[in-house]
Amino acid sequence: MANAGIVQVALLLCFSTTALSMSYNVLQVQQRGSVSASWTLIWQLNGTLHNCLQDRMDFKFPKEVKLQKFQKEEAILVIHEMLQQIFDLFGRNFSSTGWNETIIEKLSEELSWQMDHLEPALEKIMEEEKVTLKENTTLLHLKKYYLRIVQYLKAKLYSRCAWIVVRGHILKNFSVLYKLTHFVFKN
Ligand SMILES: *[C@@H]1O[C@H](CO)[C@@H](O)[C@H](O)[C@H]1NC(C)=O
Ligand SMILES: *[C@@H]1O[C@H](CO)[C@@H](O)[C@H](O)[C@H]1NC(C)=O
Ligand SMILES: *[C@@H]1O[C@H](CO)[C@@H](O)[C@H](O)[C@H]1NC(C)=O
Ligand SMILES: *[C@@H]1O[C@H](CO)[C@@H](O)[C@H](O)[C@H]1NC(C)=O
Ligand SMILES: *[C@@H]1O[C@H](CO)[C@@H](O)[C@H](O)[C@H]1NC(C)=O
Repeated sequence: MANAGIVQVALLLCFSTTALSMSYNVLQVQQRGSVSASWTLIWQLNGTLHNCLQDRMDFKFPKEVKLQKFQKEEAILVIHEMLQQIFDLFGRNFSSTGWNETIIEKLSEELSWQMDHLEPALEKIMEEEKVTLKENTTLLHLKKYYLRIVQYLKAKLYSRCAWIVVRGHILKNFSVLYKLTHFVFKN
């Protein structure tokens, strides 16, 4: 009986690892393409800093995310969290910016697509680490970073300058998404 159990577990492990690595290979090119597509869309939004210098702000991007000493599981969590937060940010009131809504819609689609395709890997991690994930300090620091951005936007009443400052930060931080995506989906 015990042996049968072990075989089952072994098979399960074997199967899920293969499934995961297969989907990694298929997704590798698409995911990286999607990161640059999102970056390009945000870049296309008007970001003229003219008259906005006084609104500059340091939101203190979490150091450990910058250093990127992650295992694949944690990298997937970080990528997903960043995508979700960027998605939520651009769902907020940007009427003061005159930004093209078609571009924002395309951006939302791109980010959703990428999150959907991370979902299977993410669910697997969640299942395995239900308890510890809530206390994961990397994710907490990341959430707080985006919370600071949202609080700033609110305090500035979603002004054009505030958005332009935020857009600049988000664009810069795409370097993290690029590197982590490359790391997660390389062979
Ligand atoms: C960008 O915004 C600035 C300031 O509002 C404006 O002068 C400029 O015409 C805008 N550029 C585009 C391409 O919309
Ligand atoms: C959106 O922000 C502008 C100011 O930038 C404000 O005038 C408008 O009332 C806001 N709209 C909503 C729905 O909050
Ligand atoms: C908004 O962007 C779309 C797609 O990039 C473009 O076709 C459209 O002309 C733009 N609209 C305005 C008002 O600039
Ligand atoms: C966060 O969770 C990931 C995935 O479970 C784990 O590898 C990592 O060590 C955790 N990090 C912290 C700081 O708890
Ligand atoms: C992320 O953006 C912040 C500005 O909010 C910047 O200080 C930081 O260096 C960026 N991080 C990376 C890794 O690009």
